[in-house]
Amino acid sequence: MDTHQTEQNDTVAVMLKKLSALWQQRAAVNQGPVHYADLEFDPAKHDFSASLLPFRDHEAWRSAPEELKSRCLSYAWGIYNLKTVYIECDVVTPACEDLIKVAPANSRNRDVIQDVMSQALLDEALHTRMSLLASNYIYARRGLAPLEFTAFNLVEWRRAVLASCNAEWERRLTRFAMACASETLITDYLKTMAEDAGIQSVCHRTTKTHAMDEWSHSSVFSFVATDLVHGLSQRERSYLRAVILKTVEMFANNEMGAWAKVFSMLEFPHAADILADTGRENEIGVYTGSVQALIARIGLDAPELASHGDALEVAV
Ligand SMILES: [Fe+2]
Ligand SMILES: [Fe+2]
Repeated sequence: MDTHQTEQNDTVAVMLKKLSALWQQRAAVNQGPVHYADLEFDPAKHDFSASLLPFRDHEAWRSAPEELKSRCLSYAWGIYNLKTVYIECDVVTPACEDLIKVAPANSRNRDVIQDVMSQALLDEALHTRMSLLASNYIYARRGLAPLEFTAFNLVEWRRAVLASCNAEWERRLTRFAMACASETLITDYLKTMAEDAGIQSVCHRTTKTHAMDEWSHSSVFSFVATDLVHGLSQRERSYLRAVILKTVEMFANNEMGAWAKVFSMLEFPHAADILADTGRENEIGVYTGSVQALIARIGLDAPELASHGDALEVAV
């Protein structure tokens, strides 16, 4: 092991230990339960930031009755939380479990990685619960039938890429890459709602609490990634980089399948026009910037790594 690598290993260990210590005070899971019944509900406030809707400028949306738009925004909160639940359960949790069970190859930081990953696992279980409670609270207060939807593009694409892997190292790297990218991108995903004090307070507060945990998770995952990258061959590094970059497209996906279901539940006028005119991805530029910074931070920005993407072109 060369001097540079030893120094980097030590930095990873120091930073992960600091993040682990911070978790004791900072993590929402250590702050006690939130009592939703105690939170103020204002029926005049929207439940979601309209600026995040991918069809916000469409004529059919703009000319719809305000009361119908308000119900759509409640469902936007439902979609947002359901997608969050899928990201937590299907994308992040399996990668935490992988690293708790087996440390990265040649890692000198096995125990601290297990420590921070088990903390993240607890956080994600709480975020799943917060998302469920906060969306069910809004459905109940608004008298709306809960949205049932399972076919999120991010999750279907992940399943398809895993099914197309030919080796266990590819499956393990795929799970880690998608989780690592998601842990960086979820901060961007939560940012607008976390900063919008004009929306329903339960929606704002839930998202803000989640965002605070995720700022820490993005550091945890990038330090673990730095450790993991050391033990990889060039081919494996190239594969990891390709999956991380591809996850951006799936993260920014507008999930119009979920919207099709909501429009049909609400009998939204001209829904077919909105669905036909709205593209697959929204705000992709925001996510691309964050993930490029991640790639550089974890040492995957060498030009020779920029070619492997064959396994990722799986249709969803
Ligand atoms: Fe989370
Ligand atoms: Fe997280």
